[in-house]
Amino acid sequence: MSTGMPVDWSSLASQLVDAARRDRPWYLARARELVGSADRLAVDIGCGAGGMTLAIARTMTCGRIVAVDASQDILDAARDHISDEWSDPRVSVELSRVDIPAGTATLRQTLGGPADLVWASAAVHHVGDQQAAVTALAGLLAPGGRLALAEGGLPEQHLPWDVGLGEPGLEGRLHAAQDRWFAQMRAALPDSRRMPYGWTETLRRAGLSSVTTSSTLLERPAPLTDADRGVVLANLAHRVGWLRPTGLVATDDLDAWDRLLDPADEHWLGLRLDLFRLSVRSVHLGVRHAGQAGANPDL
Ligand SMILES: C[S@@+](CC[C@H](N)C(=O)[O-])C[C@H]1O[C@@H](n2cnc3c(N)ncnc32)[C@H](O)[C@@H]1O
Repeated sequence: MSTGMPVDWSSLASQLVDAARRDRPWYLARARELVGSADRLAVDIGCGAGGMTLAIARTMTCGRIVAVDASQDILDAARDHISDEWSDPRVSVELSRVDIPAGTATLRQTLGGPADLVWASAAVHHVGDQQAAVTALAGLLAPGGRLALAEGGLPEQHLPWDVGLGEPGLEGRLHAAQDRWFAQMRAALPDSRRMPYGWTETLRRAGLSSVTTSSTLLERPAPLTDADRGVVLANLAHRVGWLRPTGLVATDDLDAWDRLLDPADEHWLGLRLDLFRLSVRSVHLGVRHAGQAGANPDL
């Protein structure tokens, strides 16, 4: 992946499946907070491997959930993942290939009625006009329906500030490089527009009210289990490999990362007992109240 190029979702399918499996408890906890006992229609926008689709299906007593993604390869991975884990006929799971917001009218037809819950995790920030996307998603809601956006929070950290190789602050500079990549990725999206305000404001401008944010801490202190150490090593290897061709990480830092990620090197991170996992995930929620006026983009 190089600077300014769109994300190649197909190449990330297996990684999204791993993340959906790993994040299962987080999805289930969010679904339990968001799904109401009377909900009959839910939508997972930019569903990836369907981690939240499955959690919502497990939480609803009956009805339908429609998992939406713009990438057919991702939907194929979601289908395999979901069919491995879901067979209860009381809640049907459907997959639909739709590009948000351009395909919103098609999605509305697929749904056949207004939705009780629309969930979108880490998907809207891949759309050029994020406000247009959120406004379109808000338009899918029934009175009393909820739109939940899992966006923002704090990126996961794993390493002490000084790892004894290269300049201290190595992981902080990797985050900074990722931030610059993100800005370039967004600028290169079709119809890219800046959104110089936060997600709660985006929900309000989409015509929703009772807007709230809830954040959860992921904390796995050192020493990590073997499984969590594996997650850290895979996560860092992925990010270094993905940012390497962008030129956004200094050569000295790449040299340090290559040694830290090499199992044959004495500085291999897998040997350390002080790795940790620490991050914050935020969910922003807005409600369409009965009789509420539609979106006012000038607000
Ligand atoms: C970072 S992944 C997040 C996947 C999943 N929601 C999660 O949180 O793990 C973003 C997903 O959004 C999908 N996506 C990107 N742009 C989209 C768009 N315009 N319409 C629908 N889906 C989109 C991608 O194909 C990908 O599956």
